[in-house]
Amino acid sequence: MPYRTIIEPFRIHSTQEINLPTSDEREEALRRAGFNLFGLHADEVIIDLLTDSGTGAMSAKQWAGMMVGDESYAGSRSFYRFLETVQGITGLAEIIPTHQGRAAERILFSVMVKSGDVVPNNTHFDTTRANVEYQGAEALDLVIAEGRDPSKNHPFKGNMDIEALERTIAEVGVDRIPLVMVTVTNNSGGGQPVSMENLRSVQEVCHRHGIPFFLDACRFAENAWFIKLREPGYEDRTPREIAAEMFSLVDGCTMSAKKDGLANIGGFLAMNDPSMAVACRNLLILTEGFPTYGGLAGYDLEAISQGLEEVLDERYLRYRIRSTEYLADKVAAAGVPIVRPAGGHAVYLDAKAFLPHIPPSEYPAQALAVELYRDGGVRGVEIGSVMFGTLHDDGTETPAQMELVRLAIPRRTYTQSHIDYVGEVVLSVAERAGSIGGYRIVEQAPWLRHFTARFAPVGEQGLGNRR
Ligand code: F0G
Repeated sequence: MPYRTIIEPFRIHSTQEINLPTSDEREEALRRAGFNLFGLHADEVIIDLLTDSGTGAMSAKQWAGMMVGDESYAGSRSFYRFLETVQGITGLAEIIPTHQGRAAERILFSVMVKSGDVVPNNTHFDTTRANVEYQGAEALDLVIAEGRDPSKNHPFKGNMDIEALERTIAEVGVDRIPLVMVTVTNNSGGGQPVSMENLRSVQEVCHRHGIPFFLDACRFAENAWFIKLREPGYEDRTPREIAAEMFSLVDGCTMSAKKDGLANIGGFLAMNDPSMAVACRNLLILTEGFPTYGGLAGYDLEAISQGLEEVLDERYLRYRIRSTEYLADKVAAAGVPIVRPAGGHAVYLDAKAFLPHIPPSEYPAQALAVELYRDGGVRGVEIGSVMFGTLHDDGTETPAQMELVRLAIPRRTYTQSHIDYVGEVVLSVAERAGSIGGYRIVEQAPWLRHFTARFAPVGEQGLGNRR
């Protein structure tokens, strides 16, 4: 019955209170946090769209699984359930649990990447980029041109530019490219999917040159759903079958189970090469833990195993992707500039078009994120020059390609009326866009500065009431 609303395919089983602080309290919180929304207390936020990572609701079956978690140090039953589930979905042989995605990245890049190397990706996520750069290598983003233009419509804006990949390999040389990665969905590029055809082409190029091909698989199920909806030939395939085909093209993957694992913590590194797996496990033991738990409790392994089964349920994915699109449609219909089409896990507001009077050097996306909080207690995250601008030794900065505010939707957590409220806040900020000013950075860390930087409104002196 296509005319019926696509409803949440679950009912609420336990609740947590949320609250809107007064406007004076919000103002006070912003100043205390140095206008960095990472510095807010979560209780100061009413709808928290900072991230979809680890913030979702678990199902009753996941909670039930936690009660049967086996906490044995070595060889826990929960590990073998996890192993079977992950092997079943990915078809990859070697499965290494980690406490979250970036731990898998750090281990993989420590083993594979050395100083002077180049790692191509469609678009590196911030931790992925930082972990590549931490090895002294270059993290190169090769997404197709449409993927860099927020207003361009394309069914697979996360695709990698195959010609650019070929060109990079020719220029840099195979010896300096230890692996190629593709991120599904392409988070930093607007949560946009990658087509099976594109994955196949990347695989073909990598195979021809003997370069390992890895997926950053955080949102693999959402990507599989987009393939089912948009790629000819996949209409009648199940998300599980599509996911299996995606994984069949790669030599391995990194995964944050905080996204499509539907869990609050966890991740894994998977691959086919047994000798590389040995080197990875040796590092795992050094910092994460024994290979059958990798920094996780037995009950986490249970929650992830159950979550990985549930995330591939068609009813869940239909609701998930439609609910994100619902927010996108609502704000776009009112003329708010966003990345089109809607991403899988998030709606991305285009701050360059929203606040055209604020130059990139004054961080328009940061200004917009602050304003959404100031107006309605909604927390999003800047994905623009604060996160991806390049700071040079002489203090100047090259801005990021896009200035976006991401409104990431935690899985199975907010209802349609929560999302309606978010839409209203966005529209209310849009009405007074012309009066919003930019920011400057007054304090920053040498890498991943967006987490801890402090800002001050342009034109305001001092450090912004530091406490
Ligand atoms: N790769 C991608 C594409 C991600 O989106 C993330 C995390 C990671 C890797 C790292 O995983 O957090 O478990 O260590 N993204 C979160 C976000 C933090 O807000 O998008 P992690």
